[in-house]
Amino acid sequence: MDIDAIKQGLLQRVNESESPREILKAPEFRDMYSKITSLPKEERGAFGRQVNEVKQAVEQAIEARESELESVAQAPIDVTAPFDVNTGRPLLLPTDQGSTHPLMQEIETVSGIFNRMGFVVEESREIDDQFHMFESLNFPKGHPARDDYDTFMTIQKDKDGEPFIAPAHTSTMQNRVLQKYAANLEVGEPIAAVVPDRVFRNEDLDARHEHTFYQVEGVYVNKGVNVGNLVATLQRFLEEYYGRKLNVRVNPFYFPFTEPSFEFALECPFCEDGCSVCSDSKWIELLGCGMIHPNVLKAANIDPAVYTGFAFGCGIDRLVMMKYGIEDVRHFESGKLSFLRQF
Ligand code: DAH
Repeated sequence: MDIDAIKQGLLQRVNESESPREILKAPEFRDMYSKITSLPKEERGAFGRQVNEVKQAVEQAIEARESELESVAQAPIDVTAPFDVNTGRPLLLPTDQGSTHPLMQEIETVSGIFNRMGFVVEESREIDDQFHMFESLNFPKGHPARDDYDTFMTIQKDKDGEPFIAPAHTSTMQNRVLQKYAANLEVGEPIAAVVPDRVFRNEDLDARHEHTFYQVEGVYVNKGVNVGNLVATLQRFLEEYYGRKLNVRVNPFYFPFTEPSFEFALECPFCEDGCSVCSDSKWIELLGCGMIHPNVLKAANIDPAVYTGFAFGCGIDRLVMMKYGIEDVRHFESGKLSFLRQF
């Protein structure tokens, strides 16, 4: 029996093991112990001492290996490495290093700005009905503009026999918000609410289009509200959000639920003479808005002869992309840690 070779083999296994103490139960030890009893009496003492030495050396090595394993476990994790250098396993993001998604952070910022301007913040929903998506917004059945809002539908039908839908815009909340706060008008206060939430569209995906994205809807109603109030409110919001004075361009547009309707474009914050973000136009279309159509007020039992109001719907993803120079909207829903860790 080559005691030295056995010792070297055991030590090597200890140094490579994740649970080194198990090696004390190795068959080599059992073989050595049974060899002792099989030896003639006069040789037993010397051989026994050799076996003891092997055991002590292995025990020492086990202790050293155990403290080595412990220090690896406690070492700070290098979050930039995709794999743990010690174990070769892929790194997971520790829960204490998780962070709020950039869109959620920005929704907080957007809501905070409108809140300070006197708007309450309401939530939308992720399944809605055709009445809130279309009829309450002055898109009667068969209206061609319905085709601009192609989204996902359920197989289940509502009480009118229509499928439920994943809302394609936050305007689905207009009727609810108008009804909820209509009592404000009777005491001489405006209806002022924003709804930042998730919306869905059946889109061909590319750098500017996602099937799931966020909008912030705004509704303001009072006596004597006019287009000047609309433009000033949005301009003030955008300057607060981007932290500097910006030029805005207001172009006529068409939405069934506003009259007149406008598209609001922002002077490109990235360039002076045109760049890839603004397709060399120096302007970026950011939101739709307008004076609330009388039929929309009527659907919420508000008298359009007495009250007027404005509404707007702004894409939050685009707002955020322009703030941080993000070139592809698909990053937001990708779950890519390398992207998310930058916020
Ligand atoms: N809902 C529109 C869309 O997603 C955006 C919009 C336009 C909202 C005008 C409004 C509005 O409130 O007044 O295309």
